[in-house]
Amino acid sequence: MTTIGELERKYVLRSWSVQGKNKYEEIVGGEGCWFWNREGKKYLDFSSQLVNINIGHQHPKIIAALKEQADKLCYITPNYASEPRAKLAELVARHTPGDLVKTLFTLGGAEANDNAIKIARAYTGRFKVISRYRSYHGATYGAITLTGDPRRPPVEPGIPGVVRVFEPYCYRCSFGQTYPGCGLECAEHVREVILYEDPNSIAAFFVEPVTGTNGVFVPPKEYLPRIREICDEFGILMVADEVMTGWGRTGKWFGVDNWNVIPDMMTMAKGITQGYVPLGAVVVNEKIAKHFDDHMLWCGLTYSGHPLACATGAATVQVYEEENLIENSAAMGVKLKKRLEEMKEKHPSIGEVRSIGLFAAIELVKDRETKEPLAPWNGPDPGIIGNISACLKEKGVYAYLRWNYIFIAPPIAINEEELKFGLDVLDQCLELADKEL
Ligand SMILES: Cc1ncc(COP(=O)(O)O)c(C=O)c1O
Repeated sequence: MTTIGELERKYVLRSWSVQGKNKYEEIVGGEGCWFWNREGKKYLDFSSQLVNINIGHQHPKIIAALKEQADKLCYITPNYASEPRAKLAELVARHTPGDLVKTLFTLGGAEANDNAIKIARAYTGRFKVISRYRSYHGATYGAITLTGDPRRPPVEPGIPGVVRVFEPYCYRCSFGQTYPGCGLECAEHVREVILYEDPNSIAAFFVEPVTGTNGVFVPPKEYLPRIREICDEFGILMVADEVMTGWGRTGKWFGVDNWNVIPDMMTMAKGITQGYVPLGAVVVNEKIAKHFDDHMLWCGLTYSGHPLACATGAATVQVYEEENLIENSAAMGVKLKKRLEEMKEKHPSIGEVRSIGLFAAIELVKDRETKEPLAPWNGPDPGIIGNISACLKEKGVYAYLRWNYIFIAPPIAINEEELKFGLDVLDQCLELADKEL
C-alpha cells in the first residue's frame, strides 16, 4: 500500500527545501502542547509548529466556533457586513495599543505586510520603505523584499524602493559597540540612513519588535522608543510586524507593549487564529483610517475577512482572555529565562541566551571568547545541529533549530511540568554541543 509519505514525495512541493532532501514523517494528531506521528510517537511542541499554535493543538472551544460558523455560512464576499469579521475586528481594536482601530484582513502575514506597504505609500504619498537586514516579513514579493535574511537574494529583484538597515543584535553588534555605552548607534544609524535617502521619500519603517526567525533579538529598552521618535521627526509611519510576536508570545498582548510604543500600523497573523485557519491582518490608526474615508483603498482579496477564519479568530482571542494566557506566557517566561541562564552556566557551548516571555533562542558557539558560531550563519550544518535536533526528537521534544540557534517557543498555554520536561531534554542534548568544543 502507498504510504502518505510516498504520496507526498511524489505529488507535493514543500516550502523552503531541496525536495530530494525532505523527510516524510506523517503526523496524525495533537492535543494541547503535544502532537504525535502515525507510529504513536509523541512530541512536546517546543516551537508551537511555526510559532503559530499559540494556545495548543485542538482547543475544543475554538473548534466548536469554527464548526458553528461552517454550519451557518462558510463564505460571503468581503463587500457585505458579516458577524465574525465585525466581532474579530472589534476584539483586535480592543487589544492592540493606542488608537490602532481599523483592520484589513488578509490570508497570512506576508499579505499583511504587502498591504501595509501599499497603505503606507497611499497615505503618505512617499514610495520608499525601510526594513532591517536580519528581519523576516514573509514570502510574497513585497514581503520578501522587506526581508533581509538569506531567503531574499535568490528571488531578487524584488519590489523597488526598499532600503535596509542593521538591527540591535547586541551580542554581535554590527557597529562593534557594547551596550549600554554604545549611544544606541543601531538606532542613530537609522536616522542617518533616513537623511541620506531623503526623509520626504520614505513612507514607512517596518520593524519586528523582537526579531524572530533570525535569532530572537530582544532590543535594548531604549531602541523602539527611539525609533518611534525618529519616525515622528520625519513623518515616517512606524509599522510593527507582530506576526510572530503578537498575541501573547512575549508575555504581553503585543511585542511593542513591552516598551509602551504605539506604532501607526501593525501587521499580524499566526496567533490571531493560532494557526487553525489561515488569517492575517493590517491594523491602522485613526488618522490613517480616516484618510481612507474619502480616498480609495487599493487593496483587496477574495478571502479578506473569510467567515470561517474570523469566527476562529474571535474564538481564539476569547480563549486568550478567558484562560489568562497572556499572564501565563509572562509567568512561564520568567521560569524559562531562569532555567536558560542556569544552562548557560553549565554548558560552555552556549554563547548567549535571549528570551522574552515564551520566545527564546540559545546561540551556540565553539568558543565564548571568539564567539565563533558552532555552525556557520547561512552555511551547511557541520552535523552537530542535526544531531541535537535528532536527540531532542528521540527524547520527545520538537524544536526549531537554524544555523547555530536553538529556538524555544512553546504554546503559551504550557504548564510548568511540560516546560520542565522540555528543558530537561534540552539540557541533556546540549551535552552533544559541549563535546564539539
Ligand atoms: C515576523 C514575520 N512576519 C511575516 C511572516 C510571514 O507570515 P506568513 O508565513 O503567514 O505569510 C512571518 C512568518 O514566519 C514572520 O515571522
